[in-house]
Amino acid sequence: MRKQIAAANWKMNNTLEEGTKLLNEIVGSGLQLSDNQCAIFAVPSPYLISADQQVAGNSNMFVAAQNCHHKTSGAYTGEVSVDMLASINIHYCLVGHSERREYFAESNQQLAEKVDLCLSKEITPIFCCGEPLSIRDENIQNDYVAVQLNESLFHLDADAIQKVVIAYEPIWAIGTGKTATAAQAQEMHAHIRSVLANQFGNAVADNVSILYGGSVKGANANEIFSQPDVDGGLVGGASLIASEFVQIIKALK
Ligand code: 13P
Repeated sequence: MRKQIAAANWKMNNTLEEGTKLLNEIVGSGLQLSDNQCAIFAVPSPYLISADQQVAGNSNMFVAAQNCHHKTSGAYTGEVSVDMLASINIHYCLVGHSERREYFAESNQQLAEKVDLCLSKEITPIFCCGEPLSIRDENIQNDYVAVQLNESLFHLDADAIQKVVIAYEPIWAIGTGKTATAAQAQEMHAHIRSVLANQFGNAVADNVSILYGGSVKGANANEIFSQPDVDGGLVGGASLIASEFVQIIKALK
């Protein structure tokens, strides 16, 4: 059975003191997560070790890196490798967030390399895909997302793809307050699952968690997460407010 996941993406926000307080409030809020649910916190790199210590002891809470480099090691000043993440016990990493694609020119091919490196170190890639507004306006978003999946994930075998989490984040809904409707989210998630089914078979596609991201908040999480192919969310702004993110976690199926 695929996992239901509430993933926080803090992006480049929070001092150590602010982040520690935020995480303490969420961890200490008395949440009861069932076995098929988990909460993941993608924190800035300098806080990975301390955040991991904060969630330790909560079997369904994990810390994620927001990025990793596509090479194993070497002269790449300022970058973080998957070996480094594995060495500090990090088991999740965002890969290909639209902000990385846009501001750091990450290509589908590089993202395929990141996915492979993560999997080689037992780090679950949370692979982000999603279309810009211009593509949605032309109504060719299904093909656009299928190409992203094809070029970054379809070299994997059936076993490996089930170790990947997919996050669909329409760029026009990120940080804009303009959420996709529950129906738009469901339509794309069903499309992603059918593309996975074509490539890997129905049983495999059924096992892959597909998260929605883009202006998820406490007030809309229930409706979005209740869609059959939506397995939780990847949350930016609302994950910076403890009460909001707790409400989002509680909306998981
Ligand atoms: P917002 O929730 O702020 O729209 O951000 C979504 C996102 O980019 C999560 O990765």
